[in-house]
Amino acid sequence: MSKNAEKLAAQIKGIAGNAPVQLGLILGSGLGHIAEEVDGIAIDYADLPGFPHAGVSGHNPKLVIGDLEGVRVAVFGGRAHYYESGRGDAMRLPLEVLRELGAKAMIATNAAGSLRADMPTGSIMCLTDHINFSGLNPLIGEATDARFVPMMDAYDPDMRAALQAAAQAAQVEMATGIYAWYSGPSFETPAEIRAIRMLGADAVGMSTVPEVILARFLGLKAAAISTITNMAAGMSDEAISHAHTKAMAPIGAAKLEKVLRGYLHGMA
Ligand code: HPA
Repeated sequence: MSKNAEKLAAQIKGIAGNAPVQLGLILGSGLGHIAEEVDGIAIDYADLPGFPHAGVSGHNPKLVIGDLEGVRVAVFGGRAHYYESGRGDAMRLPLEVLRELGAKAMIATNAAGSLRADMPTGSIMCLTDHINFSGLNPLIGEATDARFVPMMDAYDPDMRAALQAAAQAAQVEMATGIYAWYSGPSFETPAEIRAIRMLGADAVGMSTVPEVILARFLGLKAAAISTITNMAAGMSDEAISHAHTKAMAPIGAAKLEKVLRGYLHGMA
């Protein structure tokens, strides 16, 4: 564990209290609403030395620590993407801090494009696995043998089952599928989408995969849910733009919030 993470965790505990965090939540584009519902304390990333700038519009770069459905959570309102800095490990420090605060697991959320006609805009999808199509890896440069992280069941089966049970209890339909990571920030071409469809991807996006790799490296359990904001390039005439992503994210976000609340309630 880095000294910087220890220092930051001590700083955060000084502000938010010593009670251990049980779960980390990383929020995707346009999915920031849930951070406002946490009964707790918000700290700007700017006040946490070394935290990424997370400057993408639709993200709110704050760490919120507090209670949601009886569970002590740490909500990362802004995520840093590879395409912002060229650094695949941009979320390493926040995840190290999360572990230092006591968390054993994290759930990542994201906005994604759908590759499946039966998963239209507004759907949500629980990730069962991923394809790292970017070829990048946040552990490049890590000098220890710990870098050889096994990625079987990277999306924790027990967490997935509990999330699916929470969806069912809330009468929310939640698809399951495989997420492919393209680096962005340009959207994919229709040919790139056809290529990953053939390889078995169900959704596409520009995040989450590096964080899940980092989480597994750090020994945190991981799960992730996509909100579908558009059909992927070439799949329909629907617009693909960041403005569209931000406009459409709240449709899936309402479902996502029900699932997360149900999950947390079951954890408490
Ligand atoms: N591609 C990549 N990232 C995305 C998309 C997409 O179609 N929609 C939302 N994020």
